[in-house]
Amino acid sequence: MKQLIDPYNRRIRKLRVSITDQCNLRCHYCMPLDAEFMDKKSYLAPDEYRDIVAELIDFGLEEVRLTGGEPLLRQSFSEIVSLISSLPLKKIGLTSNGIFLDRYVDLLADHGIINLNISLDSLNETTFKQITHGNYLEKIKQNILLAKNKGFNIKINVVMMKGINDMEIFDFVEYSQNLQIEVRFLELMRIGYACHEQEEKFISARHLIDKLEQKYQLIPVQTALDSTSFNYRTAEGAKIGFIASESQPFCGHCSRWRLSADGILRACLLKTDGLSIRNLDYPQRLEVYQMLLGMKPYLRPVEVRHPMHQIGG
Ligand code: 5AD
Ligand code: SF4
Repeated sequence: MKQLIDPYNRRIRKLRVSITDQCNLRCHYCMPLDAEFMDKKSYLAPDEYRDIVAELIDFGLEEVRLTGGEPLLRQSFSEIVSLISSLPLKKIGLTSNGIFLDRYVDLLADHGIINLNISLDSLNETTFKQITHGNYLEKIKQNILLAKNKGFNIKINVVMMKGINDMEIFDFVEYSQNLQIEVRFLELMRIGYACHEQEEKFISARHLIDKLEQKYQLIPVQTALDSTSFNYRTAEGAKIGFIASESQPFCGHCSRWRLSADGILRACLLKTDGLSIRNLDYPQRLEVYQMLLGMKPYLRPVEVRHPMHQIGG
């Protein structure tokens, strides 16, 4: 089989698929209150998603993660899900802020999408509002419980920020322990709107681990080579991960491409430049794939000014 293998011998086997750049939250590191979004007319149609993913499967793609913005805001979400889930993928995941999860749990379960990453930066009402400008903490917590009880495999993503939510680290460990849900702490990355505050609010995974080790014994858990996180469990049964994209970049083993909601394929989250995959004939698409393989950086780019919600998280 033809495979997408880049000059550093990295094989592309995962695709992050953004299905809208819109969001019902305004996490301050991600977008401003008056964020500008792409024209909905430029969204890829459900069958375009199916065709792009189907072709990439022919080239060795194994996993897709649906993302946004907030993917559950896309009107044709159900249609996109049923088309993509009909393809022979090994795994389909969803990254969501969880606000509308209750509306979609059954659809997701019916289509075998059981891997959910939920972004939740605070368990404190006031802090949650301060970070996201939204009043949805209770709703999200309830939706997480609902999905957990229905058997979904849930990971909570927490972007750690100094002086904002870092004091909640032990609350999150307890949350993981009590609910038996994995919690992953993300280092704040220099992307888009986060760039201006990143230096001031950054906390390294090392720092967090040192803090946790004062209270817990962290037992390492094996992860795949191309995993973005490294993981531990505590003796008490919490499942903790770290995505240390700034201090311990994992680009050398990266197996991901990204597709934006308007059809731009990108070789890397931290690259503004990408190539449109739309309205091309087969030889032109092959050329795009070949060029993208050459566009994937080996060393981590320092920052990207392009907003995260438009690239696809
Ligand atoms: N640094 C780290 N994580 C970020 N996310 C969005 N922007 C950043 C950033 N600058 C997170 C979201 C979500 C995931 C898709 O990426 O909070 O959990
Ligand atoms: Fe929405 Fe996610 Fe951006 Fe927050 S980080 S505003 S939840 S897209």
